[in-house]
Amino acid sequence: MAPGKPATGISESPILVDWRAGTLAGAAVRQSSKTLGQMPGLFRDESARQRLDPETLVYRVQSWQPVHAGTEGGLFWGTTIVEPGKVGAEYFMTHGHYHHIRNRGEYYATVQGEGALILMAESGQTRQEIMSPGTIHYIPGNTAHRVANTGKTQLVFLASWPSDAGYDYDLIRRTGFGASLIELDGKPALVPNR
Ligand code: PA5
Ligand code: MN
Repeated sequence: MAPGKPATGISESPILVDWRAGTLAGAAVRQSSKTLGQMPGLFRDESARQRLDPETLVYRVQSWQPVHAGTEGGLFWGTTIVEPGKVGAEYFMTHGHYHHIRNRGEYYATVQGEGALILMAESGQTRQEIMSPGTIHYIPGNTAHRVANTGKTQLVFLASWPSDAGYDYDLIRRTGFGASLIELDGKPALVPNR
């Protein structure tokens, strides 16, 4: 950290978004990605996942964290790009999580592509909101969230969430969502898992 710069990294503001592509650029932008090999047990048909190339890219995330994770009162910004594809009949999707601080909310806003935001209350009740370019989705607190790409092109969405929200991936790994988004008779359908 250079002398005189605040320890928060706030001096790295602004970054740039390409509003057409949804992608972020700037020295402060972090990148991560998930392949099929990194998603064991998350899709309904685990043997179908194992038959596919584990190196297959499922999604990428770019994020901007101008304050340290865990800071109360700050905000983060990110872009997620979910590739088109299926594991068996189930669409490529993000891992999905509750926030570590459960009551923290979040916005998702669709830039490109077609898909669905899958939302699960702590009761297990699961619903979807259809995502298409321009839709803005409010994810309430205490709600697990995951995005599936139901289209033939990349699904790109922006997100903004509190810097102290954190992630709880474990519970989703153990219990999954109450329903999965699969292709049924050529169309997306949210089918119950239990
Ligand atoms: O903060 C969010 O909810 C998003 O930026 C997600 O982290 C992103 O879409 C990737 O999903 P997941 O964190 O479930 O792997
Ligand atoms: Mn989140």
